[in-house]
Amino acid sequence: YMNYRVPKTRKEIFETLIRGLQRLEYRGYDSAGVAIDGNNHEVKERHIHLVKKKGKVKALDEELYKQDSMDLKVEFETHFGIAHTRWATHGVPNVVNSHPQRSDKDNEFVVIHNGIITNYKDLRKFLESKGYEFESETDTETIAKLIKYVFDNRETEDITFSTLVERVIQQLEGAFALVFKSIHYPGEAVATRRGSPLLIGVRSKYKLSTEQIPVLYRTCTIENVKNICKTRLKRLDSSTCLHAVGDKAVEFFFASDASAIIEHTNRVIFLEDDDIAAVADGKLSIHRVKRSASDDPSRAIQTLQMELQQIMKGNFSAFMQKEIFEQPESVFNTMRGRVNFETNTVLLGGLKDHLKEIRRCRRLIVIGCGTSYHAAVATRQVLEELTELPVMVELASDFLDRNTPVFRDDVCFFISQSGETADTLLALRYCKDRGALTVGITNTVGSSISRETDCGVHINAGPEIGVASTKAYTSQFISLVMFGLMMSEDRISLQTRRQEIIRGLRSLPELIKEVLSLDEKIHDLALELYTQRSLLVMGRGYNYATCLEGALKIKEITYMHSEGILAGELKHGPLALVDKQMPVIMVIMKDPCFAKCQNALQQVTARQGRPIILCSKDDTESSKFAYKTIELPHTVDCLQGILSVIPLQLLSFHLAVLRGYDVDFPRNLAKSVTVE
Ligand code: F6R
Repeated sequence: YMNYRVPKTRKEIFETLIRGLQRLEYRGYDSAGVAIDGNNHEVKERHIHLVKKKGKVKALDEELYKQDSMDLKVEFETHFGIAHTRWATHGVPNVVNSHPQRSDKDNEFVVIHNGIITNYKDLRKFLESKGYEFESETDTETIAKLIKYVFDNRETEDITFSTLVERVIQQLEGAFALVFKSIHYPGEAVATRRGSPLLIGVRSKYKLSTEQIPVLYRTCTIENVKNICKTRLKRLDSSTCLHAVGDKAVEFFFASDASAIIEHTNRVIFLEDDDIAAVADGKLSIHRVKRSASDDPSRAIQTLQMELQQIMKGNFSAFMQKEIFEQPESVFNTMRGRVNFETNTVLLGGLKDHLKEIRRCRRLIVIGCGTSYHAAVATRQVLEELTELPVMVELASDFLDRNTPVFRDDVCFFISQSGETADTLLALRYCKDRGALTVGITNTVGSSISRETDCGVHINAGPEIGVASTKAYTSQFISLVMFGLMMSEDRISLQTRRQEIIRGLRSLPELIKEVLSLDEKIHDLALELYTQRSLLVMGRGYNYATCLEGALKIKEITYMHSEGILAGELKHGPLALVDKQMPVIMVIMKDPCFAKCQNALQQVTARQGRPIILCSKDDTESSKFAYKTIELPHTVDCLQGILSVIPLQLLSFHLAVLRGYDVDFPRNLAKSVTVE
């Protein structure tokens, strides 16, 4: 966070940084740290204070107020502070490994990093051979040392901060979003990214000098880099940078996610890979080494529609709970303006120009991770039916491990709530390189996946903060169904089916409300189950994905062992797990698999299992054999999975609360997995 000519006390600066971290905490939360300036009068002996703490951001917040050496009332007219919350990839969570990482004991350069540097071992070896001593086990420390090395070996005294950063990133392999601070460049900020997201929020009461920031290009030769650094960057004017017109009071917020800064500003610039954004004298400029002739020559300031209350918990005890209960609205928002219930038509604006090409394709490949993958599994059958195309569903990591053949006439869908999941992003680039048409289904405007795909659908579920994905799943599900409906618009033989599905979509928000009203009953069930060690979830057909997703929710937030089992596979192994102790949840709906599910039910009861059955309201047959039933409203078969997953979302939530766990921050996990 940088305030330029906007006087702020150190306490206010802390508060801005800490609140930003708290809003980002869902991304990682095993340690946190800040770097801020020493007192103003210490300018001669410039100094950066580093405060770091193991644990959640709250622990860091408390620690800051315990620091005797820091006067909280001291006022800064211009100041740049950085802060970070970590999800450990290299090195255990502790103070030394947390960020900011530093170049040396005097904190000459400090850096915060999101991502993974894959060649850090080689860089570390090189720097150690030059006498640089390392204190942490992190890949990030290499970056802090490397920038000092470049600075120590600079050929001119007036080298700019951004030039140093540019030279550093030329050596880095892997993914990163980085923000640097240095005692050698007081009041200056430099940030850059490759693979990991980074945006800049801008706030000023004065008009901004421009709405588009032209990018300053540098060609690749080092000689040119040096020359351009010395000349063009020193002569910044309003055509090459952004600042506030007036007395130039302006604040800049660098963040890996808009939720960290939305309470301050909704005016943001999304950085592209290899952009280097520098603020000096209150002016923001962006430059990069030009990579291709098609490089976009400017970065626009965008206005985000996100509201602060969308990322607040309201009356709910956890974000996850709030997000489960938001589903009647989030599902409606996914369909809003797209499904016309009068004419039985569906229009996805982001896909319409590519529809012809998609209809001609050889096959559809739907790729995602975790819950997003389950959304693909859930809709595979209806996509096959409505598109009459072969549909492959793929876990992104496995798809890459296999070097799966992909062709120019394939259409590849990338499902991702965050739009930043590294495995999915890499799979996207893999398919793009092979000439396939790429389609993004994401919940985050401006995310890497939404920008790098040829076309796509924004699921409009609203920000999802709880680490366990809930409302994104149901909105992804509906987006894929809408795609199927759009593809089959001119298929005469499918019209009756299409109308049935569209009617089903229309009634979904009301039916979801009905399912949510079962919350108390599900809480009572959780009271019976929460001391168990394992929980099996079985089903088949349209509801198999519900079982996978329900089991994932249970394991990730309750830490119980849970398995989603395809009921057709029961007799091929999993039946051995069933006895009178093992709790078994069975999803049995009135659909084409009903009779086969009855067989599975018999197999379970024959082994003295006591099944808890999620079934349709009018199902008197299954309930005869049930230990307990949760009765759900009936909808068209291919949409039933939206209703059947919600009781399992609620069950996992109540189990986690009863077991005493922090629902929104499950151990070892992070919301956006931006590492492979
Ligand atoms: C589980 C969960 C994860 C994510 C997965 C992909 O509740 O949230 O399994 O679904 O990490 O994330 P996105 O959808 O952001 O690509």
